[in-house]
Amino acid sequence: MTAAIIDGKAHAAALRGRVADAVAAFRERAGRAPGLAVVLVGEDPASAVYVRNKGKATREAGMASFEHRLPADTDAATLLALVAQLNADPAVDGILVQLPLPAHIDAEAVLLAIDPDKDVDGFHPVNAGRLAIGAEGFVPCTPLGCLMLLKDVHPQLAGLEAVVIGRSNIVGKPMAQLLLQQSCTVTIVHSRTRDVAAHTRRADILVAAVGIPRFVQGDWIKPGATVIDVGINRTDAGLVGDVDFAAAQGLAGAITPVPGGVGPMTIACLIRNTYVSACRREALDAVAL
Ligand code: GUN
Repeated sequence: MTAAIIDGKAHAAALRGRVADAVAAFRERAGRAPGLAVVLVGEDPASAVYVRNKGKATREAGMASFEHRLPADTDAATLLALVAQLNADPAVDGILVQLPLPAHIDAEAVLLAIDPDKDVDGFHPVNAGRLAIGAEGFVPCTPLGCLMLLKDVHPQLAGLEAVVIGRSNIVGKPMAQLLLQQSCTVTIVHSRTRDVAAHTRRADILVAAVGIPRFVQGDWIKPGATVIDVGINRTDAGLVGDVDFAAAQGLAGAITPVPGGVGPMTIACLIRNTYVSACRREALDAVAL
């Protein structure tokens, strides 16, 4: 059996198109464009690329992009003052502070300073709490994108065995919450798990988010499983995921490639969250996206 390739690039393009249509209707009704502010501190090259792509996608969706680039030696007080200014700015519906921040800045304090109702990254503890109890808030973009890809393969996720590899606040934990909300039976495995493969071999849904190149071996995969690879690892051989793709392809029922799988969905979901934020702030019904 050869796995179906889940085309994240095509899914993301379609989602961005739907958001652009919804944004056009929003602009008619609200008389303004939704706005996303992106803050980059320092010159990390990967972060600079992400921020540029986010700005481009924002504009392409018909939204306003406010980009703030600060030098690497910016002090915490200056960054917090900018966040406060963005919180108060009515033209800004979403605020994203690109991570990682330089070591001298307490990232947790910065995330706490963002208005939870503009936190389109879903990183504020209030939004993590809302997700945990199933209340309306913002869900982090990468796990939200993974869920959209999964729902396309499995319109009904209830009862499936889901295994998430990795327990980060940005991906693993919110991914597990989303799958639980879909009534999957969820296991999180991590660096201290005794027999990772024993868990993954039970998984109908396997989400790999560990950041270790080709960590998941072919024989860890249940035949027919759906495999979502969140890894973006830069190696001498180029970009590779957390899954040994060539080996997994012979066993999985469906699998995301790297690149072209989860990655493009993250920005599409950021644009989606920003649109949803703008609708909430204007008390307009958001189109289901
Ligand atoms: N750094 C890597 N991914 C992300 C993301 O999704 N949001 C932010 N703010 N920083 C990141």
